Amino acid sequence: MSVSLDTVDGTPISRLAFGATGTGTAEQATPEKDASRINLFRSAFELGINVFDTAELYGGGYSEILLGRAFSRCRESVFICTKFNPDNASAAGIARAVEGSLRRLGTDYIDLYQLHWPSPFVPFEESWHTLTRLLEEGKIRFFGVGNCSYEELLNYEFLSGGKITSVELPFNIAEPEIAKPFLSWACNTEKRIFAYSPLGQGRLCHSLSKVPILLEIFERHSISENQLALAWVMSHPGTVPVFQTSSLNHLRDNLAGASISLNQKEVKELGNVYATPPREIRLSQVRIGSLDGRDGYSSCEEAQDNLHNWIPSPALLAERIRRGGHPPPLRLVGPNVEGLYCLDRYDFGGEMKKYWAWRLAFDENAKVLAYIFDSQRK
Ligand SMILES: NC(=O)c1ccc[n+]([C@@H]2O[C@H](COP(=O)([O-])OP(=O)(O)OC[C@H]3O[C@@H](n4cnc5c(N)ncnc54)[C@H](OP(=O)(O)O)[C@@H]3O)[C@@H](O)[C@H]2O)c1
Repeated sequence: MSVSLDTVDGTPISRLAFGATGTGTAEQATPEKDASRINLFRSAFELGINVFDTAELYGGGYSEILLGRAFSRCRESVFICTKFNPDNASAAGIARAVEGSLRRLGTDYIDLYQLHWPSPFVPFEESWHTLTRLLEEGKIRFFGVGNCSYEELLNYEFLSGGKITSVELPFNIAEPEIAKPFLSWACNTEKRIFAYSPLGQGRLCHSLSKVPILLEIFERHSISENQLALAWVMSHPGTVPVFQTSSLNHLRDNLAGASISLNQKEVKELGNVYATPPREIRLSQVRIGSLDGRDGYSSCEEAQDNLHNWIPSPALLAERIRRGGHPPPLRLVGPNVEGLYCLDRYDFGGEMKKYWAWRLAFDENAKVLAYIFDSQRK
């Protein structure tokens, strides 16, 4: 087993990155849970991963704290990527956010600092001005953006004089369309695409139907579905999958396929078989409920007021939508006997934010794009 290496401006980075979501918040922490997550981060490192992806948002900052603790004795051996919230995109907001991330991570520099989502309320020039200072001061080494459109990326490239190192987007074998326009940008350059949800939020680990091309590839490479899903993303030059697991066995299993390289014919054929384009559905066909005690909003007024303090807020996402910056398609399950769909439970909070953003931007008869799954997860 070996995770191959790539570089960013001469700095070695592993071709696979580990996502640091799932730590929970400080309030939910127990010594046992913390120890298990820290051990998992260290195991990933021992198995060859040196890129770790976190955010001030994850666990309300607790993910950064655990990551910092995991690597306090070998800080220089890891490449830490963290992100600031779009409501911290102003000059004062970034200055405050970066100090918070540095403190929680227990470090004096961040390798890759990323804008988690574009903010429609702060001109990029203002963010860039502060980020330039942070780069000069050495508090951040590289800067990246997330969840932007290709047009927004080109604009950021222009305004920063080509200093955008990376973009973080959803990309996997079943859902390739969002990242497609970005692939040539990262191909054969020092630019990188950090591909999140490369395992389709876990669905691709079990659900690839066994069509002849897949059976041939399984046999040729002795590869499992999860390994194939990661290998497919890695086959795109400049693309680094960011996967997540809470299981040491899954971690080992995923890395066991890290050295498999698919040829261009296989990549294309697999892409043709598994790409599942999102479908259009009306917002009125989506049933909004609560899940595991997590309440959402029941009206546009509540979503606009955002009393639960969701980040990004539905109002911020709605303003992006009005300006053409669409969030990724909704993830829905259904339909039920009444023809209604419910939100997929993997990132229920994230789906609720997108739903209410669309409702604020348009009325409930608006059509939106959605990935439709026929069954809810266990
Ligand atoms: N920038 C952004 O806006 C953004 C958005 C979303 C995510 N991200 C980043 O991307 C990372 C990963 O994304 P993700 O969690 O959405 O999707 P993912 O990595 O595609 O899927 C994670 C899911 O796959 C399961 N899994 C992993 N390996 C498996 C295996 N070998 N067999 C069976 N199941 C397996 C995990 O369950 P187990 O725990 O049981 O293994 C988990 O449920 C996040 O941690 C975060 O760092 C960034």
